[in-house]
Amino acid sequence: MNVISPDMLSKTPFELIGKDWMLLTAGNEDKYNTMTASWGGLGVLWNKNVVFAFVRPQRFTYDFMKENEYFSCSFFKEDHRAALSYCGKYSGRDVDKAKECNLSANFSEDAPFFDEADTVIICKKLYVQQMSEEFIIENSIKANYSGDDYHYVFVGEIVKVLKK
Ligand SMILES: Cc1cc2nc3c(=O)[nH]c(=O)nc-3n(C[C@H](O)[C@H](O)[C@H](O)COP(=O)(O)O)c2cc1C
Repeated sequence: MNVISPDMLSKTPFELIGKDWMLLTAGNEDKYNTMTASWGGLGVLWNKNVVFAFVRPQRFTYDFMKENEYFSCSFFKEDHRAALSYCGKYSGRDVDKAKECNLSANFSEDAPFFDEADTVIICKKLYVQQMSEEFIIENSIKANYSGDDYHYVFVGEIVKVLKK
């Protein structure tokens, strides 16, 4: 894969995250986990290019995102849709998702990512905070949190973008 500048990304965040989906991955060679995410953003904060990721506390991936300094976002071509669906349905607590989906974890960067990805964003964690009911302005949003499982917001500085 080649290193590109974040502003060379050819798709909008709406396509990349909302339509294509991404695998959020954190951990190390001994232990890592990945999950599908389709909520998030790419933007600018504190004069840095950043990723915003939203992870519910019950996700196994949350534990890895919390414990590790870096995480990655792997984006795939359409031929990996089934793998992304699988990784968004099953938990790494119960199955080896990479094995089941024939994905090869690559540990050459600060966060694990997948060799099969078309685009990878490596992020260094800058900020983490759990959302809270008291800050929800639009009432209908509360329907997302019947289990009081408010997302954790992760803001990660984009330290590298890799593209095939
Ligand atoms: C298309 C899709 C998008 C998803 N987006 C998110 C998300 O943005 N945040 C989140 O917490 N869970 C999201 N999920 C749910 C997790 O991917 C799912 O619960 C997964 O099994 C968690 O795996 P883990 O327990 O190994 O971390 C999404 C699932 C799918 C299928």
